Amino acid sequence: MTDSTIRPRSDDAADEAHPPGSANRADAVHPLTGPIDLSQIDISAIEGRREVLDGLTRFLMPYKFAIDEVMTKLRILQEEFTQTGEYNPIEHVSSRLKDPDSIIEKMQRRGVPLRTELVRETITDIAGVRVVCAFVSDVYRVFELLTAHDDVTVYQVKDYIAKPKENGYRSLHLLLEVPVFLSSGPVQTIVEVQIRTIAMDFWASLEHKIYYKYDREVPAELLQGLHDAADQACRLDSTMEWLHITIRGSDRDTLVRRSTDTVARSASALAARALETAEAKDRAPALRSVDSALRSGDPV
Ligand code: GTP
Ligand code: MG
Repeated sequence: MTDSTIRPRSDDAADEAHPPGSANRADAVHPLTGPIDLSQIDISAIEGRREVLDGLTRFLMPYKFAIDEVMTKLRILQEEFTQTGEYNPIEHVSSRLKDPDSIIEKMQRRGVPLRTELVRETITDIAGVRVVCAFVSDVYRVFELLTAHDDVTVYQVKDYIAKPKENGYRSLHLLLEVPVFLSSGPVQTIVEVQIRTIAMDFWASLEHKIYYKYDREVPAELLQGLHDAADQACRLDSTMEWLHITIRGSDRDTLVRRSTDTVARSASALAARALETAEAKDRAPALRSVDSALRSGDPV
């Protein structure tokens, strides 16, 4: 595609417009008020690009609504806990919709033609929701609460807490399918949900910044530093969980049960639930691997 970016004129061009001695030379190249030469731009390329962006923007709408659905479910849970005075396992929630440029870039990187049915199959994190919790047991509690809804299908689970990634990354990743009710009927739409603790989130955002800064060529000493930090974050999570249980007084027994039982049985519970809903929706073959991977602790 030809470069159709609109740029302010260069200094040379500005020199022509404002020969030496004329007033306000600097103003001539101001990005907003300076002259812009549009005559060299290939209009057909711009129109093609606009068509692509318009098409993708339409395609993205159900994903935006799916984010709204999941965010509403989480907000209701939070409000319910606030109203009833029950312990709220959710610290904060954020979401993002992948933008058309990132979709184009990812499809090109994967060498897949830019057709929406292929985008749907290829990119599973178009709609993303992140839930941050204080404690590890809360992460699994949120998973249980969110997926207890009849209209939520667990499509994939990657438990990077039970089995962290090589670099130390920890989080619980879910692909959930939720119905979006359009005038033409319901459309099943996938949302990637990442649930993690504050410590995991802190680590992941720093690691992401470091990778971005070094363009993936991170010096060995920084990688080692990240590894150490991941270990410390993991230990911090355990200590905080223990303190939390200790200070909760009357809820203590429940919390102890939850933080040991829930974490221990969460992997098989996740798998069982995923299979149950999958069978109901004919997704079982895709999810058999979730079951076995979770039992072995391998990410799927
Ligand atoms: P991609 O999104 O294409 O990477 O797909 P994937 O199949 O590898 O998915 P995975 O579930 O492993 O990761 C999905 C998302 O989790 C990423 O887009 C990141 O937001 C986050 N993530 C995964 N691994 C890492 C990691 O090592 N560091 C950080 N900071 N984030 C990660
Ligand atoms: Mg991703």
